[in-house]
Amino acid sequence: MSVIEVTGGKPLRGEVAVVGAKNSVLKLMAASLLAVGKTTLQNVPNIVDVVIMAELLRRLGCSVQHDVENRSVTIDVPDLIEHRADYDLVRQMRASICVLGPLLARTGQAEVAMPGGDAIGSRGLDFHIAGLHQLGASVTSEHGYLVADTKGMHGASMTLDFPSVGATETLLMAAVLARGVSVIDNAAREPEIVDICSMLETMGAKITGAGTSTLEITGVESLSPTTHHTVSDRIVAGTWAVAATMTGGEITINDCHPEHLEIPLNKLSDMGAEVSSTQTSVKVSMNSRAKAQDIVTLPFPGFPTDLQPQFIALNSVSDGAAMVTENMFEARFRFVQELARLGANVKTDGHHALVRGVERLSGAPVEATDIRAGAGLVLAGLVAEGKTVIHGVEHIDRGYTNFVPDLKRLGADIERVD
Ligand code: EPU
Repeated sequence: MSVIEVTGGKPLRGEVAVVGAKNSVLKLMAASLLAVGKTTLQNVPNIVDVVIMAELLRRLGCSVQHDVENRSVTIDVPDLIEHRADYDLVRQMRASICVLGPLLARTGQAEVAMPGGDAIGSRGLDFHIAGLHQLGASVTSEHGYLVADTKGMHGASMTLDFPSVGATETLLMAAVLARGVSVIDNAAREPEIVDICSMLETMGAKITGAGTSTLEITGVESLSPTTHHTVSDRIVAGTWAVAATMTGGEITINDCHPEHLEIPLNKLSDMGAEVSSTQTSVKVSMNSRAKAQDIVTLPFPGFPTDLQPQFIALNSVSDGAAMVTENMFEARFRFVQELARLGANVKTDGHHALVRGVERLSGAPVEATDIRAGAGLVLAGLVAEGKTVIHGVEHIDRGYTNFVPDLKRLGADIERVD
């Protein structure tokens, strides 16, 4: 069991580079199943979830080579693949559900363990299932597994109740090999959706509307393997931007896309930070106490839920009070109980949290319950007086490559203790 020990008070200064997005690469790995042969993904983050997804693909019959040094993963997909994703892997990583669409498209059947809820909420699958029905698959739940089969999928017109990232991906990956034209309305518009669409297009898929609310997919007979560079992780970049603001430092964040972070970066400016961007980097600096700012999480291009805990941490030491509204995951405020252990003043009521800024936090042992809560607690520890010990580091390992070494390089007084 590892912990992170951080002693607050050091401003972070320097440069940091961001690698590919967890929430893209896992889906790109699943999408590789759609074509027989070797697909190579580049700019792959060195995170635990990639290791779990690689193991899942191996169990499906693929051979997977993960070159950590070169940040690449090569997946060799055989003609015949298995169609079952076991509970022991799915329970470790709920994103395993993203093999459902490709398995159905390739083999006409899929058995994927139901991931259940997790620390941030109940996380339904009803939109995935309804869309697959419309595409001509039957989906039932048996002994804890989603069991799907089809005699051949056909194009359909689908409208999502909510622009769900996961459902958009499942239906997209199912539709690319379906007979005829499919339309996904109220589709998610996240940069990770644009990324998977661009990979599928290089594989030979016919998709229009990536990055808009309407995706139109014309099914093709087969797809070819490809090489694809994973889009940079906007949430990791956003976490560094908060770190610079919160610690009163200056960080240049390289290899990122500031246009994917428009609202969070505007919030930081409103809080008093100086933010200057190029196409592929952003510099964030701060030399005063931040002014608290309200936040409302929404699907992209709205404020991302995955930066909500980091911004609560920032608001908790800012001047004034802020209302944070969480519209995506009902349990994401759980982490404020841990932040309270550091002296934060946060009151929650349903999906609202009122954060009253305090002058200082004071270090204490705390427990990370999910990736972003973990990041929020580390940020809080960076400004808390004395030592903060963060437990549950395995959650942070799921989403952040080299987090502690990078923080240390930027000047933080931080150690990972095994
Ligand atoms: N929802 C349903 N039914 C469905 C699908 C979704 O009710 O069939 C609900 C969810 O319960 C949630 C909302 O719709 O309330 C949005 O869920 P969405 O499907 O968009 O999220 P996801 O695909 O499960 C991905 C990321 C999350 C990120 C969200 C929103 C991955 C592996 N996960 O989840 O990332 O917060 O999109 O942007 O891509 C994280 O990285 O820490 C993380 C949780």
